[in-house]
Amino acid sequence: MYKVSMIGTGYVGLVTGACLADFGNRVVCVDVDARRIQMLERGEIPFFEPLLDELVRRNAKAGRLEFSTELLPAMRQSDVLFIAVGTPDRGDGHADLSALFRVVEDIAPHIDGYKLLVTKSTVPVGTGRKLLERVHEFARPGSVVDIASNPEFLREGSAIEDFMRPNRVVIGAESEQSRAIMQEIYRPLYLSETPIVVTNLETAELIKYASNAFLATKISFVNEISTLCERYGADVRVLAKAMGLDRRIGEKFLHAGIGYGGSCFPKDTEALVKIGEQVGYDMRIVKAAIEVNEERPQLALQKLERLLGDVNGGTIGLLGLAFKPNTDDIREAPAIKLARALREKGASVRGYDPIAMEKVRAAEPEIVLCKDPYEVAAGADGVMLCTEWNEFRDLNLPRLKELLRRPVLVDCRNIYDRDRMEALGFRYECFGR
Ligand code: UDX
Ligand code: UDX
Repeated sequence: MYKVSMIGTGYVGLVTGACLADFGNRVVCVDVDARRIQMLERGEIPFFEPLLDELVRRNAKAGRLEFSTELLPAMRQSDVLFIAVGTPDRGDGHADLSALFRVVEDIAPHIDGYKLLVTKSTVPVGTGRKLLERVHEFARPGSVVDIASNPEFLREGSAIEDFMRPNRVVIGAESEQSRAIMQEIYRPLYLSETPIVVTNLETAELIKYASNAFLATKISFVNEISTLCERYGADVRVLAKAMGLDRRIGEKFLHAGIGYGGSCFPKDTEALVKIGEQVGYDMRIVKAAIEVNEERPQLALQKLERLLGDVNGGTIGLLGLAFKPNTDDIREAPAIKLARALREKGASVRGYDPIAMEKVRAAEPEIVLCKDPYEVAAGADGVMLCTEWNEFRDLNLPRLKELLRRPVLVDCRNIYDRDRMEALGFRYECFGR
């Protein structure tokens, strides 16, 4: 077992740190955000992730997991340092790596002996190599610093499951010692025969982008087909099921709707286009996936206007605000894009989400937050279902209809059936049917 520092306690860092502690390593989670560290020391989790609070508390209690804002002491006592600080989109599609390089520059001069730095954050191809160069600029003579890449494939809302039972572990490591340490760290997964892919830094970094961009492309592909289904009277849900039965295609990530959001797909697809441009190559397929995804909220609005007419001066309700179920993350959430577009059209917006309300209150104060779907409907001219939370799958629809000024519902995640909704008296729109 190892002594591990986990730098960055966001969705990625905290899950990885707690899971590595659960493997038996001694983990110190470090973050610049003192408030966040204080919360974690109280056993409070700064965001919603099922089962994470129990995992953190159990490992903290066992003395395998602790929290600190002090980077250097943590570094000194660790054999391996994972870096999972945010690598957000800079706004121009490039990933902002300033936090990542600052961490490495802060610690390099203080390293003596051997240290392994592992990038967990999603980083543009070539970053590991640049970090290696930067470390050698700053490091003391005689210290030996290795860099490894260990990209994460965690989905928010199922992150612990995805860590403990991954389809594969990807390790970019180029020295015997770094390869040995990384394979030892993931040895607990050998029991479940988890494939471990060991390769060079660039390949490991590109695997992450290629995987996320492919998933995003799959979603945009089925979203494009859903528009054809609407125009030819085909049913995209039947189509997706039949496509998915072909094992070369696979059934996952073929749900048509308002498109993808979150902190990864939008950022990683844009970054991959830039990664192509940097070596003079035009990533046309990924660009098309981005373009198709960006038009989805507009298509949802057009569906609403087909049912309601001009929304100016109206009140629209949004059911579900997080970018997907089982998370409180509203980064790039389609519902938030819809809310902004509706307000630009002069509509006022009400909304409800089972978990994400606090984040919405802070980020989108214009959205009137309601305590449940029925309060959203009361006084609204129509509602749009934006996130397929399970509690929206068995709503009391007749009651919802009574509360609405107009019985209008746009189903952006295709969870209802048109016949049933129209039989109940709704004017109903969805994607691809
Ligand atoms: C982020 C990226 O979104 C993801 O693509 C990458 O794979 C991992 O990092 P996430 O965990 O969601 O994933 O990041 P975020 O929720 O923004 O948290 C980053 C944490 O790092 C924050 O708690 C922040 O305070 C901390 N941080 C940031 C540091 O500790 N030091 C810094 O210098 C900067
Ligand atoms: C994704 C990747 O799945 C994960 O491997 C990577 O590490 C981080 O990014 P995440 O963004 O948390 O995970 O959520 P995911 O479940 O992948 O969904 C991403 C978005 O795609 C959501 O907005 C979801 O609503 C949307 N989606 C997903 C669809 O629109 N249709 C689908 O069929 C599946």
